[in-house]
Amino acid sequence: MGLLSVGINEIIAVTKDNAAPIGIILREGQCPKMILFKGSKTEENIRKYGWVTANFVSKASLYARYAFGDVRGDELTAEGDMQRLTEADAWIGFTAEVVNETEQTYLVDLTPVSETVLTPGIRRVNRGFDAVIDATVHATRYVFNHSAELRERICYDFELIRKCGGEDELAAKKLLEDATEIHL
Ligand SMILES: Cc1cc2nc3c(=O)[nH]c(=O)nc-3n(C[C@H](O)[C@H](O)[C@H](O)COP(=O)(O)O)c2cc1C
Repeated sequence: MGLLSVGINEIIAVTKDNAAPIGIILREGQCPKMILFKGSKTEENIRKYGWVTANFVSKASLYARYAFGDVRGDELTAEGDMQRLTEADAWIGFTAEVVNETEQTYLVDLTPVSETVLTPGIRRVNRGFDAVIDATVHATRYVFNHSAELRERICYDFELIRKCGGEDELAAKKLLEDATEIHL
């Protein structure tokens, strides 16, 4: 697959009327996979409808928004039986099957059915953008366990966002401050 690279690809996963940031794991010689924590809407929808789209976006704030908030109907575009983010720069359609289960997670195998680039271009290297993604991952866990270690990492990321980010990254920081109640 051209759009995915080996390793973990942090995309916005759209399932029926839902969006959430999720990692797609790609290893040499294997199909793409997701590991989904039980209890998420993404997990429920994949088991119910059997499809997911991977959306590549260039706005960091979308990771924070969809980790903590719902997607609006007008932010989604129908593509056959599937949906994608209207703002996606590119998207991959997958059929998805739960193939294994642990106490806390489902392992999902993905089969690509389409790959579309809508806005070709480059994403510039920006530590503020990357820090939003990192802070959002930590924040999704922090809101459940209030771990001091995660708090420290989130504060470090907030400082990077402040120094290196642009308007969109600063908007994401505000959203994450409200979600975590960590205000620098
Ligand atoms: C960059 C990023 C990657 C994430 N990857 C995963 C993942 O691979 N599996 C997972 O279960 N949750 C992952 N999460 C957390 C989910 O996005 C989060 O739990 C979300 O609230 C689930 O939303 P849903 O209930 O609408 O599916 C990730 C979060 C971020 C910010």
